[in-house]
Amino acid sequence: MSGRDTNIFAMERPSHSAEETEAIAAELAAELAPGDVVALVGDLGAGKTVFARGLARALGVQEPVHSPTFTLIHEYQGRWPVFHVDLYRLAGVAEAESLGLEEYFEAPGVTIIEWADRAASLLPARAIRCEIRAGAGPTERVIRISRPARNGRGARP
Ligand SMILES: Nc1ncnc2c1ncn2[C@@H]1O[C@H](COP(=O)(O)OP(=O)(O)OP(=O)(O)O)[C@@H](O)[C@H]1O
Ligand SMILES: [Mg+2]
Repeated sequence: MSGRDTNIFAMERPSHSAEETEAIAAELAAELAPGDVVALVGDLGAGKTVFARGLARALGVQEPVHSPTFTLIHEYQGRWPVFHVDLYRLAGVAEAESLGLEEYFEAPGVTIIEWADRAASLLPARAIRCEIRAGAGPTERVIRISRPARNGRGARP
């Protein structure tokens, strides 16, 4: 498999299908720990929910994973709690503040946030950023994952 030697926290990789996007998410999941926050960024239909599903499944979630459209937040139980947040319908930062996102960030689970840029100011500094953008063809995507340099809580050797 390609990518085995790459650092999943600092990479850019093409995906050619939804399945491949889920597989890349699963590679990231293998490196996650409770307290991690994954901030998904990308246009409508980019594949954020596909990526979130791949993450959740690889974290042991067995029930179907859909975007939490009406509630904004779904909570699943996998190896750890998995909180799936979708901020697409967020009215503004004030509403984001009322969601109590900090409690999820501090909980011993993994938080995955679609449209994370809509609450950028509320994200913890340690958040792992995952950008998905369109590629050349209809099923081509480019996935870029980055994590801020060691800065305390999110840091691992
Ligand atoms: N390489 C790919 N990676 C991910 N999804 C792909 C890929 N190729 C095609 N798709 C399709 O693109 C769609 C992505 O939808 P998805 O709901 O994940 O996007 P989204 O970024 O969550 O959109 P929204 O902003 O509406 O929440 C799916 O229908 C998926 O099958
Ligand atoms: Mg989505």
